[in-house]
Amino acid sequence: MCGIVGYVGARNATTLLVNGLKRLEYRGYDSAGVSLMNGQGVETRKAKGKIAMLEAAIEAQPIHGNIGIAHTRWATHGPPNECNAHPHHDCSGTISLVHNGIIENYSPLRAMLQKTGHTFVSDTDTEVLAHLIEAAFDGNLEEAVIDALALVEGTYGIAVISAKDPDKIVAARKGSPLLIGIGDGEHYVASDVAAILQHTRQVVYLDDGEMAILTRDSYRVCDLDAKTVKKGVSRIDWDLDKIEKGGFAHFMLKEIFEQPQTIENTMRGRSVDEDGFSKLGGLNLSKEFLQHLDQIIITACGTSWHSALIGELMIEEHARVRVEVEYASEFRYRNPIVSEQTLCVVISQSGETADTLAAMREAKRRGAKTLGLVNQVGSTIAREDDGGVYLHAGPEIGVASTKAFTSQVIALALLTLKLSRLRNMSVVQGREITQALAALPAQIQTILDSASDIEKIAEAFVDAENFLYLGRGYNFPVALEGALKLKEISYIHAEGYPAAEMKHGPIALIDENMPVVFIAPHDAVFDKVVSNVQEVKARGGRVIVITSREEPALAGKIDYEIRVPETIDMLYPVLTVIPLQLLAYYIAAKRGLNVDQPRNLAKSVTVE
Ligand code: M6R
Repeated sequence: MCGIVGYVGARNATTLLVNGLKRLEYRGYDSAGVSLMNGQGVETRKAKGKIAMLEAAIEAQPIHGNIGIAHTRWATHGPPNECNAHPHHDCSGTISLVHNGIIENYSPLRAMLQKTGHTFVSDTDTEVLAHLIEAAFDGNLEEAVIDALALVEGTYGIAVISAKDPDKIVAARKGSPLLIGIGDGEHYVASDVAAILQHTRQVVYLDDGEMAILTRDSYRVCDLDAKTVKKGVSRIDWDLDKIEKGGFAHFMLKEIFEQPQTIENTMRGRSVDEDGFSKLGGLNLSKEFLQHLDQIIITACGTSWHSALIGELMIEEHARVRVEVEYASEFRYRNPIVSEQTLCVVISQSGETADTLAAMREAKRRGAKTLGLVNQVGSTIAREDDGGVYLHAGPEIGVASTKAFTSQVIALALLTLKLSRLRNMSVVQGREITQALAALPAQIQTILDSASDIEKIAEAFVDAENFLYLGRGYNFPVALEGALKLKEISYIHAEGYPAAEMKHGPIALIDENMPVVFIAPHDAVFDKVVSNVQEVKARGGRVIVITSREEPALAGKIDYEIRVPETIDMLYPVLTVIPLQLLAYYIAAKRGLNVDQPRNLAKSVTVE
């Protein structure tokens, strides 16, 4: 989604800001721009398309300055073009502003400003902010920003500069992430730490309703009544190489191959073998609450919603607690039954997904305790939940989520273990789970070692137009995830179904042009899936099976077989999803597509 970076210091800000934008490219965008204070006033360059286009515009007409703001835009109001790209300006061109989020009441505000003589040049909601600040400006930029924001409904993360109050950047946040970077004689503002990590590891996360005033030598955080707010400084402990490709053709491939390590990181210090128990330090939930809670709601979007479905099966099977899985976007607008004995588990890689955050806030308002399973440290969900389990998968850059998914399933398995052992599970059963967890990293590695076989299978399906993914039990959500991975990066239409549901409709689609992927490891429902394989083969479908050992019942009924190691039923998804990630990746890469930044998609969806 949109990205912000700003700088105030002694260096030439142009390259620094453009490089910062490049670090945000993975979030998805369709235009970019930069404004600098050039000594006389504000100067801006913008371009539609990739950052290379912005660089070309800057090369054609260079700009220089030590204070500036920059932005990557993902279009919401108005098409992606140079005019709608940020930064936006007031009538006089002295104020320049970048904005993430949506100003919901921009239409009446625009009409009101037009009546008082303001001229608009773009279709965006953002432009009203620049004009509101202009209307309120009386020599002090932060005061004008406070007055302007008082009129605004919606969400924003903004950074503003003004030639009439020239030595500062003013930033403010409501519903869209923003942080300050602290340097030596310089300060930064960014929507994502990746943009500034090259320069500083000391950051201050802004909360909703807060504003920051940055100068070369100081920063101050205050609320929107201008009252100073004391903030802690956080240290970022991951390195830049985590957000570089490290020799892989795409971030997605790198992240798929990182999974032995990333799930190990999710488990580290949390899975206790000898006691068949798990330690989750950040839960902030009493033993009594965990023993007596009567319902768990898990809410999430996209891939995180798929891991939630796996969590539901694990928790109900082992901990015997009722679980409801809800799309966050639906949950927030219905009238759910929530009590003080409800635990609301919120799953999000980014910790910034607008619907998931809103669903969590709604559950909290209704009295539930909230628990975030979040990857991005310091993100809004991680800061607002009552308790949390960080995934520790490291930054995920590819828009298609891969390593976050497997870490989410591991975190859910650890939670299941914790709940089950507190309620009804024996140490022997607990140990069976901890031992199976411990074996997973090496098992994933064996699948990755045969990636070239999967690449060959992908070759045969580069021109496919449709795909069906079928699985049962724990592997039904994996079927959904396999289909999502394929469609989002290869643009091939794909659907996931519970295998037996096929007979109730989708079977009509099956002919020799329909590839069908069965996720059929040797678990409790394996024999049932074999019957479904036969039904597809009998109708001429092209069958790819992900299974866990040689199976005479499948002989002659499948076209391609991909083997995964054996594990316990609840952990199969961590293994069976790996070939599906690779299959989607290789098909998309062979189609020559932009795997890491698929069209129309953003890494973190911070608008509703
Ligand atoms: O950051 P989140 O986990 O909250 O994101 C949720 C979805 O937007 C995300 O999983 C999306 O579906 C991915 N593109 C899937 O690969």
